[in-house]
Amino acid sequence: MPAIVVLGAQWGDEGKGKATDQLGSATDYVVKFNGGNNAGHTVVVGSEKYALHLLPSGILTPGVTPVIANGVVVDLAVLFQEIDDLTERGIDCSRLQVSASAHVIPSYNRTMDAVTERFLGQRKIGTTGRGIGPTYGDKMTRVGIRIQDLFDPSILRQKVEGALLQKNALLVKIYNRRQIEADAIVDELLSYGERLRPMVADTSLLLNQALDRGETVVFEAGQATMLDIDHGTYPFVTSSNCTAGGASTGTGIGPTRLDRIVGVAKAYCTRVGEGPFPTELDDEKGEFLRVTGSEFGTTTGRPRRTGWYDAVVARYSSRINGLTDLVITKLDILSGLAEIPVCVAYEVDGVRHEEMPVNQTDFHHAVPVYENRPGWTEDISQCRTWEELPAAARDYIEYLEEVSGCRISTVGVGPDREAAIVRHALAQPGAPAHP
Ligand code: GDP
Ligand code: IMO
Ligand code: MG
Repeated sequence: MPAIVVLGAQWGDEGKGKATDQLGSATDYVVKFNGGNNAGHTVVVGSEKYALHLLPSGILTPGVTPVIANGVVVDLAVLFQEIDDLTERGIDCSRLQVSASAHVIPSYNRTMDAVTERFLGQRKIGTTGRGIGPTYGDKMTRVGIRIQDLFDPSILRQKVEGALLQKNALLVKIYNRRQIEADAIVDELLSYGERLRPMVADTSLLLNQALDRGETVVFEAGQATMLDIDHGTYPFVTSSNCTAGGASTGTGIGPTRLDRIVGVAKAYCTRVGEGPFPTELDDEKGEFLRVTGSEFGTTTGRPRRTGWYDAVVARYSSRINGLTDLVITKLDILSGLAEIPVCVAYEVDGVRHEEMPVNQTDFHHAVPVYENRPGWTEDISQCRTWEELPAAARDYIEYLEEVSGCRISTVGVGPDREAAIVRHALAQPGAPAHP
């Protein structure tokens, strides 16, 4: 019965990888439906730490079938490297299924990503440089290369030549760079074909049939709601739909089949790259969150920007995604603060906004309105039940639940698989999301 979507409710790096991993042995399939190797999910299992970029985190649970669905953009060199690294560490990747309709990131799109960012100068997005934007751009303008094209050399050549007509005009005439030759691109892509062939599947059919049999499918989002191309802080976003609807279009599973939508949010907030972030701190409290929370990017190593929990963003995420459950991670990082501000509204030019301003300029000018909650001093990383948490930590979570528009089912208190407090089993299909 259950199709469970796990997605980011803030600006990414909320701990989606760990949340997916925790669903663990109850899962039959775990599906990546958007983004590419811009994602970085860290999962800690005992003394082992895994950083996953292209493969869904469920791959770490024996017996689970990992799927890369049609909504993903695939850098094949990265895919095979990740498979090799995991296999060397004893993880079985042999069940991996890759959609024939997923798009490929050709090396020229990494080049395009880099030159576009350089050209934008101060107006840059701060991308991960993995070629994500240009590859989704090609998909939308219908000059993309798909996995299935790798098995038809003459079609592949036609498509690469077609794409390069535009790219080379830009590269040579605008960006003053050398022309890219189609031969080298085609040869590289064809060289992956043989190894890829046994993994390629009609993943929509496969997953719909699994749901028909009553198996459990987890859809793991890359990036997050505020980085969504439609609903995020455009243009400072990624180029895919990271929100719940993306799980449907990115896999070919009808929206009526999605049973539970689980949002993951930190007990505070972080962001990597450029763009507005109302609760951002540039003082010693921000540095405290960065250092204590080890807030450095899994993919690029960049220091993450840090700030207080933003309930306006949480309510927006609850609404946009139709969240049934919220998982709050990293509560342990807040231990030792005398009080903890929570942003409950914004003020924009003297006007109070309870909901996300619809106008981008207003969001850039949003000044957070804070409610302070009492902190606690105890180390909570060993707590495993709700009752073991200090009263102030329970109060903080109950307050977040009150202002976030969704019930809080699980609370994370450390990076380990076991370091979590389950308050409620995930909501049953059809149950109201509001506490
Ligand atoms: P993702 O991209 O959403 O999967 O998140 P990342 O893996 O990029 O970043 C989350 C980081 O927080 C990882 O290093 C996790 O190991 C870590 N983490 C997840 N949950 C918790 C938690 O409850 N407490 C602490 N201290 N760390 C956590
Ligand atoms: P996970 O899945 C945080 C950010 C980049 C940049 C913007 C666009 O680990 O949560 P892109 O390379 O996608 O075109 O960059 O999006 N970004 C992320 N930030 N976590 C991620 O993934 C991200 N993936 C992209 O920093 O601001
Ligand atoms: Mg991450």
